[in-house]
Amino acid sequence: MPVQIKSSQDIEHLRVAGRLAGELLDYITPFVQPGITTNELDRLCHDYMVNVQHTIPAPLNYAPGGHTPYPKSICTSVNQQICHGVPGDKVLKRGDIINIDVTVIKDGWHGDSSRMFCVGETSPHARRLCEITYEAMWHGIVKVRPGATLGDIGHAIQTFTEANGYSVVREFCGHGIGRRFHEEPQVLHYGRPGQGLTLQSGMVFTIEPMINAGRREIRQLADGWTIVTRDRSLSAQWEHMLVVTESGYEVLTVSEGTPLPPDFARS
Ligand code: MF3
Ligand code: CO
Ligand code: CO
Repeated sequence: MPVQIKSSQDIEHLRVAGRLAGELLDYITPFVQPGITTNELDRLCHDYMVNVQHTIPAPLNYAPGGHTPYPKSICTSVNQQICHGVPGDKVLKRGDIINIDVTVIKDGWHGDSSRMFCVGETSPHARRLCEITYEAMWHGIVKVRPGATLGDIGHAIQTFTEANGYSVVREFCGHGIGRRFHEEPQVLHYGRPGQGLTLQSGMVFTIEPMINAGRREIRQLADGWTIVTRDRSLSAQWEHMLVVTESGYEVLTVSEGTPLPPDFARS
């Protein structure tokens, strides 16, 4: 299927779903403390989605080609886990970093966002990885406008990341989103300026760079889902969902607790 152009009604649905994803991350934030398990975070989010938001957790039983159905309602990726970490008995301890990635479905439309959290007091190098990854996402976001290309986004993320001594994971990317969880286009977090699809207003996609402190190579765990760094270095990820507007972009996954954009991205 080609890349869809969303109507203003579609975009309003995605704005609602996106805000709900942000609000779910706001809700879980105070629980991310030493001593909680990733299963408990999953359960809290699941119950909030189903009972408070009346949303459907998109990850639960999600089974794209070749995968066993995903068994939980959120992804929790800790330390050297890059993405798709499956919640379990793991107890969070002081100094861990964790990505919580949530995708809600509201009225048939998806809202997809993730943030990094530091568990208690965290080392300066782990905090720096989380901050640089946040800025890397925003270096991509600010490129978004009609006439720009996907390569412009990927290049901005890659050059900023590598200038800071980190590496960009290549095997996973951002994606179009709408009534389906993963739509075209694929939004690579590396690339060359001017290459790839030219953006048009009404396109909706995520930008969700995965950045490793060490080398970019990955390994999949035996659970069939969890992706870790091959060299066991720390990894971080942030994700927003956005729409291309006439003049640039609108971030759809905003809520009260959404961290502010970095200085360079403030208008
Ligand atoms: N939320 C992830 C993304 O940003 C996808 C998770 S798929 C799952 O695209 F099955 F692992 F949940
Ligand atoms: Co996504
Ligand atoms: Co996501």
